[in-house]
Amino acid sequence: MFENLKAQPADKILALMQAFRDDPREDKVDLGVGVYKNARGVTPVMRAVKAAEQRLWQEQETKAYTGLTGDPAFADAMISLVLDDAVARENIAAAATPGGTGACRQAFELIRMANPDARVFVSNPTWPNHLSILSYLGIETVAYRYFDDETRSVDFGGMMEYLGTARAGDVVLLHGCCHNPTGANLNAVEWQAVIDLLNDKGLIPMIDIAYQGFGDGLQDDAAATRMVASQVPECLVAASCSKNFGVYRERTGLLMAISQTTSQQGLNQGTLAFLNRQNYSFPPDHGARLVTMILNDDALRADWASELEEVRLSMLELRKSLAGELQKLSGSDRFAFLAQHRGMFSRLGTTPDKVEKLRADHGIYMIGDSRMNIAGLNARTVPVLAQAIVDAGV
Ligand code: LMR
Repeated sequence: MFENLKAQPADKILALMQAFRDDPREDKVDLGVGVYKNARGVTPVMRAVKAAEQRLWQEQETKAYTGLTGDPAFADAMISLVLDDAVARENIAAAATPGGTGACRQAFELIRMANPDARVFVSNPTWPNHLSILSYLGIETVAYRYFDDETRSVDFGGMMEYLGTARAGDVVLLHGCCHNPTGANLNAVEWQAVIDLLNDKGLIPMIDIAYQGFGDGLQDDAAATRMVASQVPECLVAASCSKNFGVYRERTGLLMAISQTTSQQGLNQGTLAFLNRQNYSFPPDHGARLVTMILNDDALRADWASELEEVRLSMLELRKSLAGELQKLSGSDRFAFLAQHRGMFSRLGTTPDKVEKLRADHGIYMIGDSRMNIAGLNARTVPVLAQAIVDAGV
């Protein structure tokens, strides 16, 4: 049997993570996988997470199964974090999932069950694993124009033109904030135009929000998701806690399905439970429980929010200093976009050859499409990267 297997293409982000680990150079710089690192290059356990873990260890009396869609308290806490009161709670079906990826996977399965003819429109570019999972599930994708390589910002006209070709019932996958991989995002006026188009054409939005709190702050980063969710009849939201709670390996996420009636909500909730049961039965609980404890405890929540804000501000600082350094070295403003982008990533907008040159000559690792994880930088490596970018003739 096994001899029939074919080697699968490696995920380019994870392959790069391995290549970095295998590189013996001491001064190598990892700008690959989207993981926050502090100034010492460490991905720390957040203070509030540690405190919640300690409390959990002391107080938890059972590890018996929760519900198929996880502990409802987790769903309630996350719904209020992401959506606030944009949508009535009784219209939201929700399931805990293994990370944001699990939420995306379950969302795609739900779409396929509900409408096997639906195509999923994805930004060009998008997170590569979106495409990989959609193709694995046999769901047709259509790429919509998103990033302008010249200006390194959103080609909004192009985006609207491409979305204009969608048919009623198609799904449009949108990044709630901190677009991965480009770092370029829509403004509020553009979001409203997208919402109007979705409603005019009968398209269903699916929002992937994996970086709430990493761009402009916890509330601002959720604003677009709330705008969409409150103005369309149906919507899917896949939320990740990996980055903003730093619980990457705990696999903590939530899928929300928003509809208009409580009877539809009931059907959606049952379908989400069914899908969880088919794929892995009960979702992981540890990370979800920590997140619930933090969000429901005033002191833990305040501490978490302030640490997250420190993380966000340090990334903004890195963006500014990289843009400034590049301005100095290149004598031009062509890298100013780095300070305008938001979130963990920016797409430098250079060729795979130059990305490879940066890796070979300088030990600087970024994804082949020139996506850089800004959070992989620190005060020492910013000038090193800037010099390497200029030397490589980017
Ligand atoms: C990334 O884009 O680097 C992260 O979302 C991690 C991953 O799983 O790819």
